[in-house]
Amino acid sequence: MPTLAIFGSTGSIGSQALEVVRASEVHYDVKVLTAWSNVEALATQAREFHPEVVVVGTLDAAECYRNRRRDGQERVLVGEEGLEEAAAWPGVDTVLSAVVGAAGLRLTLRAVALGRRVALANKESLVVAGDLVTEAAAASGAEIIPVDSEHAAIFQCLAGASTREVDRLVLTASGGPFLGRSREDLAYVGVDEAMDHPNWTMGAKITVDSATLMNKGLEVIEAHWLFGMKPGQIHVVVHPQSIVHSMVEFVDGSTLAQLGPPDMRLPIQYALDYPVRNRSAWPRMDWTERHALSFQPPDMQTFPCLGLAFAALEVGPAATAVLNAANEVAVAAFLDGRISFNGIPDVNEAVLDRLGGEEAHALEDRLQLDGEARIRAKELIGKAGN
Ligand SMILES: NC(=O)c1ccc[n+]([C@@H]2O[C@H](COP(=O)([O-])OP(=O)(O)OC[C@H]3O[C@@H](n4cnc5c(N)ncnc54)[C@H](OP(=O)(O)O)[C@@H]3O)[C@@H](O)[C@H]2O)c1
Repeated sequence: MPTLAIFGSTGSIGSQALEVVRASEVHYDVKVLTAWSNVEALATQAREFHPEVVVVGTLDAAECYRNRRRDGQERVLVGEEGLEEAAAWPGVDTVLSAVVGAAGLRLTLRAVALGRRVALANKESLVVAGDLVTEAAAASGAEIIPVDSEHAAIFQCLAGASTREVDRLVLTASGGPFLGRSREDLAYVGVDEAMDHPNWTMGAKITVDSATLMNKGLEVIEAHWLFGMKPGQIHVVVHPQSIVHSMVEFVDGSTLAQLGPPDMRLPIQYALDYPVRNRSAWPRMDWTERHALSFQPPDMQTFPCLGLAFAALEVGPAATAVLNAANEVAVAAFLDGRISFNGIPDVNEAVLDRLGGEEAHALEDRLQLDGEARIRAKELIGKAGN
């Protein structure tokens, strides 16, 4: 029976992964489940999937969890150390890394360093330390199978092709809820509007990132590390229908694309079952119906985060780590009503300007720089609020 560890199991990706497991014709044994604060949902999942270990964020959360699972046999681990210990849990074949933000880095690195197969949803791991994660994978032989729908599409289009056969990758972007709006229009948009994504239902942070196009910027960086492409070989097009999940243009001029309904259960299942494709019951396209697929260039003036991501990628991994850290702080502040929507790119740009030139090669130095960028972002947000 193939075995799984699902990190971030109470989140949007994690809970859809459990739907995949529930519906799968493969009998997966789920050995690890993790949440941060949502112990109620975690306990419900544990009752159904009987993991050997669960992880929660704090000692208080662990106590709440145990109160809900008095007769549970699973071990309960706590905090970052708990996540790392669970990432090395014995007998796990595939680790689904679906924690949100840079908090997913250490556990991802641990699983990769141990040579585990990693189904990677946590794109921030590669944005903060793509160099360290890919080095660790090369040393251990770990396979990283992308879960992000765009990268899953490219992974499938590339199947077996060598890097020299590829001219460019084309990442598609829905454009988010504010497609067609100007920067002035966006000055007063609220959290509800930003959370109203036209095609996908996702966690709060990635939904805001989709509205600012930061998500596409993070994905450009992710694609660079996953597929070994130079920044100039990675292009973004807006495709509002979210049916073409991304494309690869080869040196002979041929373009391959992967298409399907906007449903994350498809790329999650692909990553868990890889290299086999198993039958699924998820909704499908009806190609006998009339469909119009459109493509247009992104508006880099209205959505500066995409350009910031390209700029940081040109500088290097310490700069992308700084941008990611600033963005996590800025998005949290926007969600709390402390800054405006346009304040997100403003904070990101200011922090990148200030700290983007710093060097930080080793993991601990990179994480220290991440911490400095967070402090700087909070200072800027504090000043803006006064
Ligand atoms: N959602 C999508 O459709 C989608 C698509 C592509 C890629 N992704 C990527 O997948 C990742 C997860 O996204 P999501 O939308 O599923 O996020 P989400 O719904 O916010 O879920 C996040 C998960 O991480 C846990 N978590 C929160 N803070 C944590 C911390 N500091 N340490 C450890 N765990 C923590 C949460 O636990 P609690 O529930 O207890 O808070 C939850 O289980 C992100 O990197 C995102 O970019 C998501």
